[in-house]
Formats: sequence, structure tokens, C-alpha cells
Amino acid sequence: MTLNPSRIQFFEKLAPYYDLLLDFLTLGGYATFLRKAITILSPKQGEKILDLCSGTGRAVSWIADGVGSEGKVIGMDLSKNMIEVARHRYGKSRNSIFLLQDVTQSWGYQNYFDGILNSFSLHELPEKYRRNVLEQSYLALKERGRLVIADFNPQVSGWARLLSLLFFKLFEKRNLNFFDFHQNETLNRIGFKRTKTVSVLGGVLQITLAYKHSIHLG
Ligand SMILES: C[S@@+](CC[C@H](N)C(=O)[O-])C[C@H]1O[C@@H](n2cnc3c(N)ncnc32)[C@H](O)[C@@H]1O
Repeated sequence: MTLNPSRIQFFEKLAPYYDLLLDFLTLGGYATFLRKAITILSPKQGEKILDLCSGTGRAVSWIADGVGSEGKVIGMDLSKNMIEVARHRYGKSRNSIFLLQDVTQSWGYQNYFDGILNSFSLHELPEKYRRNVLEQSYLALKERGRLVIADFNPQVSGWARLLSLLFFKLFEKRNLNFFDFHQNETLNRIGFKRTKTVSVLGGVLQITLAYKHSIHLG
């Protein structure tokens, strides 16, 4: 088990109310941000997409609309209740599957996915596993595959950095080391190409798109 037990308990308890609460607290901004990340991921008919740390499965359900009945979306999460909520809400959809999986352990996919989404979860992972999960993502993608990371911006500067650090000190103390994580440098070292980042909320949040290959392969 790689997630702190109190953090697991937090997600287990929050699962049924997670989307509602986050949408309420952010006045709908959370859902808008996720939608934007999915627009950037741009799922196409027939594609296979993985949502890492998929929570309640809401993003999976939106991606499933994009890939259609010929496509497939897999959501993975460590929390039993998150997976239960996701299966209950979206499990009837033929193109969506939810797996109880600690993503820091091997998932066993190679050259399989057209796209991978990682939303608000990279910062949740213990420091030593962040690079490993990105490496696994690289291997799991097809040659023309792409990765989208929608999360806090670890390299944020100025007032936005102060705001982010305050938020983490209050609510996510254990994950403060995320601000030492050189995300885009790590992506490039792993082999990802054409990395592009869109800043959101004055740089507090960001959406990063990276491709496995350096050129469009047709
Ligand atoms: C902040 S929530 C984000 C959920 C969803 N991706 C979203 O954007 O709404 C983080 C999720 O990551 C999951 N998680 C944390 N560590 C994990 C791990 N090692 N393996 C799988 N899931 C994990 C938690 O259970 C939780 O559902």
C-alpha cells in the first residue's frame, strides 16, 4: 500500500459526495477544469484511454462519450469506495471498466492505450513513485499515444506559489514535496516529446499534454 492510511480513509469516506462537494466548493470550476483537460486529451471514436486514479469515474464517463461504443475507457483507483461509486454510476456503460488498482504497482499494459489522463492524482502519489507512474504511462502508450496531466503546478511562482503552498500546508501537508517535482523535465527525461502546458487560475493549476513520439504518425 503506497498511499498514507489516513488519506485512503479520507477518499473512502468522501467517495459518494466527492464530485458534489468539489463542484460546490469551486463553484463548478473543478468540473470545468476536468472538461478542459479532456478537450485537450481529445478522445476519438474507437480509442483506448486510461484514467489513472479515476476517483468517482466522472471523467471516465465523459471520455467514454468521446471514444464511442467501439472504444474503451479504463479507470483505475486504489479506493474501494471510489471504485464502487464509479461502477454504480457508470459501470453499465459497455465501454467503461473500473479496476481496483494501486497505480504505483505494475499495471501490466504495454503499447496499449491511445491516451492516458492523470487528473489531480500525481500530487497525491508518494514522491518516490511519481516518476515511476509516468514511466509506466510511457510504456503503456502506443507509439502515437499522448498523456494529459491536469493538476497543481509544481513550478508555480509569485503569489500563486504562496497561495498553493498555503493550501497544501492546510489540507495536503504530506504532499508538499510535490513542489520539488520537476514534472516537465521528468517527462522529457523519460522520453515524452512535444510537451505543452496550459496555465489555469493564474498558474496555480496546469494542464500538460505530452506525446510519446516526436512527430505525428499519420
Ligand atoms: C484528488 S482525487 C482525484 C480523482 C479524479 N482523478 C478527479 O480528478 O476527480 C485522487 C484519487 O487518487 C486516488 N489514488 C491516490 N493514490 C492512488 C494510488 N496509488 N493508486 C490508485 N489510486 C490512487 C484516490 O483514491 C483518489 O480517488
